[in-house]
Amino acid sequence: MARAPAQRSNAIDKANAYAEVAAEIAAVVDGEPHLIARMATVTALLSTAFERYFWTGFYLVDRDRPDQLVVGPYQGALGCLRIPFGRGVCGVAAESGRTQIVADVHAFPGHIACDSRSNSEIVVPVFGPDGTLIAVLDVDSTAYAAFDEEDAAGLEAILAQVFGGRAPEAEAAS
Ligand code: SME
Repeated sequence: MARAPAQRSNAIDKANAYAEVAAEIAAVVDGEPHLIARMATVTALLSTAFERYFWTGFYLVDRDRPDQLVVGPYQGALGCLRIPFGRGVCGVAAESGRTQIVADVHAFPGHIACDSRSNSEIVVPVFGPDGTLIAVLDVDSTAYAAFDEEDAAGLEAILAQVFGGRAPEAEAAS
C-alpha cells in the first residue's frame, strides 16, 4: 500500500536517526571485541538517541542453562533477571529467532511485566557470526504502538553490524 507523504518522511527521519546512531556505535566499539562492552555501548547510545525508549537492554542466552535468557547490559529501571525460552515477548523472539513488534504488551499472551509502565515493545534476536543466537535486544516504551517495521530494520542492521551476525535463514538465502 502506498504511504502518505507524512508517513514517508517519518520513515525517512527514523531511518536517518538509526543510521546516525549506528555510526556512533560503530565508532565507539571499533577495536573492542568484548561482548559486554559492545552491548553496554549499544544500550547507552540507543536509549540516549530515542526518547520513546523507556527500557533498553539485552537478555543473553545463558551458556549454563541454554533454555533460559539472563539479563545483560541495560538502561532503565530494574529488569527481570531470567526469562525462559518461549515465555513473554523476549522468550518468543529467542525461540523463533524472529523480531517481535508488540503494540500492546497487555494483550500479548504470557507477557512478563517487569515494569507496569511499559505498554509496547520490540524484541530483536541477536545472532553471532556463525548464525547462533547469542541474545535478544528488548526495547520497551510507555507509549502504545511505539515501534514499527522501520525500528525493526534499524535495530536489526545495528545488531548485525555490532555482533557480526545474520539469521540462519538469511545466510542460507544468500
Ligand atoms: N517485557 C519482556 C520482559 C522483559 S522486561 O520488559 C525488561 C517480555 O515479556 O519478554
